[in-house]
Amino acid sequence: MKHQLQQKFNEIYHKEAQHAYFSPGRVNLIGEHIDYNGGLVMPAAITFGTYLLISPNEDNVFRFRSLNFDENPTVPVQDSYQKDGDGWFNFPLGVIEHFTRDSHKITGLDMLFFGDIPIGAGLSSSASIEVVTSFALNELFNAGYDKLTLVKIAKSVENNFMGLNCGIMDQFAVAFGEKDKAIVLNCDTLEYDIVNSNLGNHVLAIINTNKSRKLVESKYNERVEECQTALKDLNKELSIDYLCDIDSATFAKYKHLITDEVVRKRAQHVVEENDRVKLAADALAANNLAEFGKLMYGSHDSLRDLYEVSGKELDAVVEYAKTNPNVAGARMTGAGFGGCAIALVKANAFDAFSKELEVFYTDKIGYAPSVYQSLIGDGVGTLLVTSEA
Ligand code: GLA
Repeated sequence: MKHQLQQKFNEIYHKEAQHAYFSPGRVNLIGEHIDYNGGLVMPAAITFGTYLLISPNEDNVFRFRSLNFDENPTVPVQDSYQKDGDGWFNFPLGVIEHFTRDSHKITGLDMLFFGDIPIGAGLSSSASIEVVTSFALNELFNAGYDKLTLVKIAKSVENNFMGLNCGIMDQFAVAFGEKDKAIVLNCDTLEYDIVNSNLGNHVLAIINTNKSRKLVESKYNERVEECQTALKDLNKELSIDYLCDIDSATFAKYKHLITDEVVRKRAQHVVEENDRVKLAADALAANNLAEFGKLMYGSHDSLRDLYEVSGKELDAVVEYAKTNPNVAGARMTGAGFGGCAIALVKANAFDAFSKELEVFYTDKIGYAPSVYQSLIGDGVGTLLVTSEA
């Protein structure tokens, strides 16, 4: 892959790329719509991700090229930058803007991006490109930031430059992920444990519903606001910073304070999902995949009925999974509204699972899903640049 990219870089820029970086995408095993509510999540980095090959130029411009998109703009070096339309290059441009605003002199760059994460599938292609760019600029311009600061920069670009009020989970996962491990992250304190993602004789399947996601941003930001309303209502009698500061039992006592019925349902999901992550971490540590799987199904049902971010495509995947005795559990992963589901499938039954699911799903939805066997990989890093690599 890198070798081909180096060749492409040569073709485009007529010189060698001096540096190469990679940042993965992520799946979230459990703990959905929890990060911006200050609770626990359990993501893992995957082996799909974004490659960035880069060399400085003397032309005082940023050249953004991608093998995934036709839009390839050249932007002059300036004192500040603004989002320009909806093009992909706004993600790296937002990172350049952030470093520039923090008084780092970012000079001309020739860049080539390539991503093998299915775009818009809820596997954090955006966090991946933000983090790979932050990591690269930090190294190239000796900004001296630690990894957590790079994560915060990437999140800030998503929030303030791109306008999505997301939490910190995705950027954290793609930066701190480790091969064959999951992260249990407390999104309030940012304390985390790297835990064995010991799936025994099961593998992790990623099922892309191939449903194009529209209006994700506005629906996502609406959910964030609903949680803020619930928090305000609960604080008529409580004094909490986040919905995840209370457990299900406390919620049951105070939920009457939330006046709007829909908002109450949203908060119920958040509080119960946070409790589920604690149980899921215990189940994983005890190698109890059956229990872990049940919690995944519970998470999906709650996202469908209480948080209302699923959809008939994601539901169809989980509906099929429940009928297959070789599946321990399944759920939607990421923001929802289409995108991907994950399932824990017995390794020796993966092929049959994949075929049967395709038939079931196509029959119900009218087009096929894409099913991958996912590997859990490392977080962002530098790649060696050699023409033989
Ligand atoms: C998106 C956001 C994350 C998180 C998930 C839902 O991936 O970027 O911050 O909120 O949705 O869990």
